[in-house]
Amino acid sequence: MVERLHDTQKATGSIPVSRTMALRKTTTILAIETSCDETGIAILDCSGGFANPKFEIRANVITSQIELHKEFGGVVPNIAKREHIKHLPILLVDALKKAGINPDALWDRGSDLRQGSKRRRKPIDALAVTVGPGLEPALWAGITFTQELSQNWKLPVVAANHMEGHIAAILLAQSDKSKVRSDKKKIKFPAIALLVSGGHTELVLVKNWLDYTVIGETVDDAAGEAFDKVARMLDLQYPGGPEISRLAETGNRYAYAFPRPMINTKNYNFSFSGLKTAVLYALRDLKSKKIAFTKNDVAASFEEAVVDVLLLKTMHAIKEHNARTLILGGGVAANVRLRTRMQIAAKEVGIRIHLPAIQLTTDNAAMIAASAYFHVEKNDFTGWKKLSARATMPL
Ligand code: KG4
Ligand code: ZN
Repeated sequence: MVERLHDTQKATGSIPVSRTMALRKTTTILAIETSCDETGIAILDCSGGFANPKFEIRANVITSQIELHKEFGGVVPNIAKREHIKHLPILLVDALKKAGINPDALWDRGSDLRQGSKRRRKPIDALAVTVGPGLEPALWAGITFTQELSQNWKLPVVAANHMEGHIAAILLAQSDKSKVRSDKKKIKFPAIALLVSGGHTELVLVKNWLDYTVIGETVDDAAGEAFDKVARMLDLQYPGGPEISRLAETGNRYAYAFPRPMINTKNYNFSFSGLKTAVLYALRDLKSKKIAFTKNDVAASFEEAVVDVLLLKTMHAIKEHNARTLILGGGVAANVRLRTRMQIAAKEVGIRIHLPAIQLTTDNAAMIAASAYFHVEKNDFTGWKKLSARATMPL
């Protein structure tokens, strides 16, 4: 039996979990995120378990590749991979330094034992890496880097789901000043999570951490993708979401009656492709008829159409599932109009709303570490040899 377990460990690359880990109050997780165009490494102290999860961000470093991808109008997977590979070692040194961790202490188990000294606690207990969903070449950059760390430091690995990370982002404090989220903000289940990013638009029923059911999703473009494509039509830079949002602030939201696709369907699915085409045709008509228009009005009318659909479907889901909490996540959750209208609607129906801090809405590794904590609590690790990139990965 012992022999067989040993063979399995060899085959999968699984690292035995340190015996003392289960006894500890605080688990320190180092997470790596490379699913798209941000390279991120974070180190979090996690405690409180499922009942009262608390996180202290000791380091959260990010390098954005946006400038490089701008000229292509979107993310080029192989450039993303190359950049992740380049930046990961630099970010690792930076993250360890910020967290006050001496890298030597991660290697020293063997020498401690040789010298007969008492085994010291390692400053990191587990690793986490985003394995999907995302751009496969980009994901592999993070995975191979993590595989090396896992072998070198003899640390177990959580294979993290990027979208689960976007949900967990709400558990992180607003800023370094308030390091640990206050208890008053405890999440009450069931919750409905609206996840809106560049690649995904999903409504998720969250019965507890790790208990997710996707009840609706986009049948074509993701919300963020629609923002990016409409931005391109308006000759705005990539990523388009923040640009549209900025212009919309001073635009007329009712200047153009763009469609609200699928707003009245009985399911929770979304479609943004038709809306995008409607904007394209409207712009074509305005230009061909030489009618004066402002980008601000187009941006504001488009934004309002997207927010209307997201809001209505989310509110229906809350009602049908008797949800006690509304969670917002993903890059588009940085959108001020969406945040404001969701806050107002949540207040109207008397439901708690949890929004991620603006700086943690777009991709980062801190949210990956937070989501990984629940897997660590369940001893849900993946041997380093078994880690594999997944372009699509259900919650
Ligand atoms: O979650 P994220 O950083 O990456 C993915 O997982 O895709 O989301 C990026 C998306 C982009 O489409 C970007 O345009 C959008 O989030 N975004 C916004 C805003 N900030 C970022 N969309 C609307 N309004 C914003 N303020
Ligand atoms: Zn994301």
